[in-house]
Amino acid sequence: MNAYLNGQFLPLAEARISPLDRGFLYADGVYEVIPVYSRHPFRIDEHLRRLQHSLDGIRLSNPHGDAEWRAIIGRLAADAGFEDQAIYIQITRGADDKRDACFPPGVPPTVFAFTAPLVGPTAEQREQGVAAVTAPDIRWGRCDLKTVALLPNVLARQLAADAGCAETIMFRDGYLTEGSSTNVFAVRDGVILAPPQDHLILPGITCNVVLELAAAHRAPLEIRPVAEAEVRDADELWLTSSGKEVLGVVTLDGRPVGRGEHAGQPGPVTRRMHAWFRAFRDDVMRRGRG
Ligand code: PDD
Repeated sequence: MNAYLNGQFLPLAEARISPLDRGFLYADGVYEVIPVYSRHPFRIDEHLRRLQHSLDGIRLSNPHGDAEWRAIIGRLAADAGFEDQAIYIQITRGADDKRDACFPPGVPPTVFAFTAPLVGPTAEQREQGVAAVTAPDIRWGRCDLKTVALLPNVLARQLAADAGCAETIMFRDGYLTEGSSTNVFAVRDGVILAPPQDHLILPGITCNVVLELAAAHRAPLEIRPVAEAEVRDADELWLTSSGKEVLGVVTLDGRPVGRGEHAGQPGPVTRRMHAWFRAFRDDVMRRGRG
């Protein structure tokens, strides 16, 4: 049983929802992705808190309490045929019998979850870094909510794919926001720069792990708006997400990131952060702690 739909565990191939589901018709729903290491869901409380924040943001009540969510996630994680997983959860405003944008009274939400193998970066991507392109951030003003209205993210991701790149890094009004499905860090003169977690970016759980690791290791860190010019001229760039972990960006719009001997390669701060993250993942996350 690798899926859950409206109270039932079932094989994913048997899960069925109505074409009138408001997730399908209006992208009227939210989601979460929880990484699972050695069958231990990572930072489940933080993910459930972010889910609640997303639900509150779209005025949809939470169909389950934390204990119920833990039971659902725990069972999916235990039943899967693989140890490292990505558990996807989606809640929509349900299926009404008419197509009216207004919230439908008395309609139960659709609650869906499934687990799949967690796919991390390849060894080559980790070692050599990845290429990225840039684009204007054309999304709405509540990018802190993890909604299923992902078309701008889809278009940004495809822009990267068309250019043979791994990610599109976005700017709004001259400042860095984030990637299509990642948070972005820059390094300048040995200082790690990260944009504030306001309405314009998703508060990444991996991003927060990296901020904690920087603090624990006393790495110089500034959380502040990061100008587009500072990103284009950065010494180092990296991406974070549940799937990508800490992944160096070595070219931006075809130009090498950084200068001197590290130009076009993951730089020393990126390598150090990646090593701290890996150690944390293997020593802490895999033991169900952290
Ligand atoms: N994406 N920013 C955006 C826009 C994202 O979609 C994601 C995650 C992140 C990183 O968040 P986290 O560290 O919690 O994974 C940042 C998930 C993985 C997805 O949509 O599949």
